Amino acid sequence: MNTTVREIRDALTTAKNSSFEQATAMPAGYYSSEDFLQLESEIVFRKDWVCLGRVDQVSEPGDFYTTDLVGEQLLVVRGKDGVVRVLSNVCRHRGNMVAAGSGKKSRFSCSYHAWTYDSKGQLLAAPLMSEVKGFDCANYRLPAFNTEIWQGFLFVNLDGNATPLAPRLSNLIPYIENYDVAERVHGFTESVTWQTNWKCLAENFMEGYHLDVTHPKTLRPLTPTGLCEYVPSDGQYNAYYSYYDPKYPERGPFPPNLTDKEKRCSFMFGVFPNLVVAAAPNILIFLCLSPDTSNSVNIRWGMSALPQTDGVTDEQRDFMNQVNAEDKAKLETLQKGLQSRYYESGPLAKQDLEGTIFDMYRYMATHLGSDVSLTD
Ligand code: FES
Ligand SMILES: [Fe+2]
Repeated sequence: MNTTVREIRDALTTAKNSSFEQATAMPAGYYSSEDFLQLESEIVFRKDWVCLGRVDQVSEPGDFYTTDLVGEQLLVVRGKDGVVRVLSNVCRHRGNMVAAGSGKKSRFSCSYHAWTYDSKGQLLAAPLMSEVKGFDCANYRLPAFNTEIWQGFLFVNLDGNATPLAPRLSNLIPYIENYDVAERVHGFTESVTWQTNWKCLAENFMEGYHLDVTHPKTLRPLTPTGLCEYVPSDGQYNAYYSYYDPKYPERGPFPPNLTDKEKRCSFMFGVFPNLVVAAAPNILIFLCLSPDTSNSVNIRWGMSALPQTDGVTDEQRDFMNQVNAEDKAKLETLQKGLQSRYYESGPLAKQDLEGTIFDMYRYMATHLGSDVSLTD
């Protein structure tokens, strides 16, 4: 029998009420059920803060990109007033998508009947509509969603009811402040789709157990599994130190306040539900995850550089492309395995290696556990 949504929710509640030592991996349905994904979309992705990327990807007025978040079409644009907005990318006429792709525009003209909006979402012109009694462009604008910028990352809250994000992440700040995360300069963002559940990728990025085996030539010589150190979570984030092999050369230049310890590790952190980040002394790598189906995830990933450098180098990008290819191969075979009706989930490795996975279970349990009313 396939796992039912009720069984998945029960497993989350069991995790929440367990100690880490008792924890086992979640059942396959947690990662493969379309019904459970519907719940995640409604309860997590529409109600919580969701990261859409680095805010300086749209650095000048008119810079924009479009993206899909659990079926909502979004237009991220810096207005001519300098404010970054996340607008509904759905035309106020009959609902076509207004903008496509990314670029720079002062106006957005819907390609269906040419209703045209400014960079703040206000309707400016609508052909032949002056012949319609009472029509006034001033009455029509693209809805704007709530946004928050935290450490240079742009977050959106679709339902408008989430409490402010920054206070919720205050316990994370002491760990990341010396890495100057907010000051990092956008190098590139790329959109790709992998055939894996969004949580498989979130867990994978945030656990050090796989590093030696999955990345023998890339990350093992740099951040070996044996040097990972778990960072306690308060339920809003997960994190670990990924220390560098002592033989690995220095990764400067360094942000000015970085301690000697911080110079010898990458600080890996995830902001629940969908942002995972590697803050290395000289580079920042981020992935924003957006579920596509239960078996596929849309990823906006990119790299940001220290302000005192010339930006992200080809060598740094090539290295991450190789690491990503190694992870993608594993996560796509994992996803096939998780379709099995006979898989019984196993125990997690020790806390330094997979404690971060348990922290994410507990976050999901606070929203979707079977002891939580979904109608509140
Ligand atoms: S749907 Fe956009 S102009 Fe008609
Ligand atoms: Fe990996």
